[in-house]
Amino acid sequence: MNDNLHSLRCFGCGSRISGVEARPDFRCAQCGDLFEVEYAGWGQRQGHDRPNPGALKWLWRERRCSSETVDQSGVWRFRELLPILDSFGNAVTLYEGNTPLYKLKRAAKALGIDELFAKHQGMNPTGSFKDTGMTAALSVARERGFKWVACASTGNTSAAMAAYAARAGLRSLVLIPEGKIAWGKLSQAMDYGAVTFQLKSDFDGCVKVLTQIVQEAPIYLLNSVNPYRLEGQKTPAFEIAEAFDWSVPDHLIVPGGNLANSSALGKGFRELRELGLVSRIPQISVIQAEGANPLVRSFVESGGEKLQPVEANTRATAIRIGNPASWRKAAKVVRDTGGWCLDVSEAEIAIAKAEIGAEGLGCEPASAVTLAGLKKLRNQGRVAPSQSVVLLLTGHTLKDADYTINFHRGTLLTPHESEGHEPSITPLQRDAVVVDPSPEAVLRALKGAAE
Ligand code: F0G
Repeated sequence: MNDNLHSLRCFGCGSRISGVEARPDFRCAQCGDLFEVEYAGWGQRQGHDRPNPGALKWLWRERRCSSETVDQSGVWRFRELLPILDSFGNAVTLYEGNTPLYKLKRAAKALGIDELFAKHQGMNPTGSFKDTGMTAALSVARERGFKWVACASTGNTSAAMAAYAARAGLRSLVLIPEGKIAWGKLSQAMDYGAVTFQLKSDFDGCVKVLTQIVQEAPIYLLNSVNPYRLEGQKTPAFEIAEAFDWSVPDHLIVPGGNLANSSALGKGFRELRELGLVSRIPQISVIQAEGANPLVRSFVESGGEKLQPVEANTRATAIRIGNPASWRKAAKVVRDTGGWCLDVSEAEIAIAKAEIGAEGLGCEPASAVTLAGLKKLRNQGRVAPSQSVVLLLTGHTLKDADYTINFHRGTLLTPHESEGHEPSITPLQRDAVVVDPSPEAVLRALKGAAE
């Protein structure tokens, strides 16, 4: 059976091509912009021809109890909304998705809002949200007969790609900026058998090199310019809507790097509304690090119409990106949903990360920009106490243990960066103390720590 119902539509000029016509760099031959997967007729279907929302909601929930491989994936259990494969039997899955939605009670109280949640995409098989996109795009690669896949990465994409490629029996090539990714992520690419090259460049430089390579060699590009990645990455929107019993939260806050994830989540909610599965879309806000904030600048300078690349610098290495590929898509999502785009400082990121850690969840630095951003939005009066807010946590805390340890030891931030933030930082710090190996010494130290 052919389950494939999609075509690709250029986000810039609107021209349509079939999936197999896409160029190796996934850029439009007419205007150079990126494509979006489109399912013909969804918007126009009327009456009996329209999918039955009640039946779909029932089916998706029912699949959570199924023992079928594709049903156990939190991406493929929604497969009616991502018919991109000739056969769903070709899906390469590590049982990604179905991630937890946690209440953030202490942060909600501190911020004076009633309902605050963390959708923890770091609880995916390789520890980041990239798995949901990778299962989709790598399955396409395998179905189309590619032997090699490749990506440029700040670490998480490469970890996910290497794992899914290994499961599918494909070879994978990783290009990463030398010395600028967290060790946890690099170790994953090695463990899953990728060929890993560290380039003396930044992420944007790695993308440039890889874009040329895929035009010369039969290698399938798995960066998020590949529109199939976004089809998988839109599925957390379905999970969030399902968790809210199909009435969505008021506000979703997402970190912004290459800006594919915010684009994908916007697409996911938009499609749910088009199909009559939800009646409204949450506001979607994108938060960047101050040192890697090209979209924030774009909104300030041109309302999100033009983007000037920046030289990126932040300790949240996952989002150390100065020339984001999907900025036009993300800008539209922010504008269309009435969200905001703002940036946060290194100290604000570090504090927010420690606060999420102190709630027993933890996340990687790039994910913590969401809580830091929410604090700013609350201070600016842009989020009301009665609004329900979901923070999208994109990566697991163990991805970048060096960052966490440096924060707790007090060696992460420069005095200049932490200036004025000491009252927030000090109570959060929990350095590991050296104690003599006797019960008396441990009890004495415990008494000191409890005071
Ligand atoms: N959070 C984490 C943990 C990430 O790894 C990334 C991106 C983002 C947020 C930003 O998402 O790019 O869709 O806006 N990491 C990419 C990588 C670029 O190569 O792993 P985005």
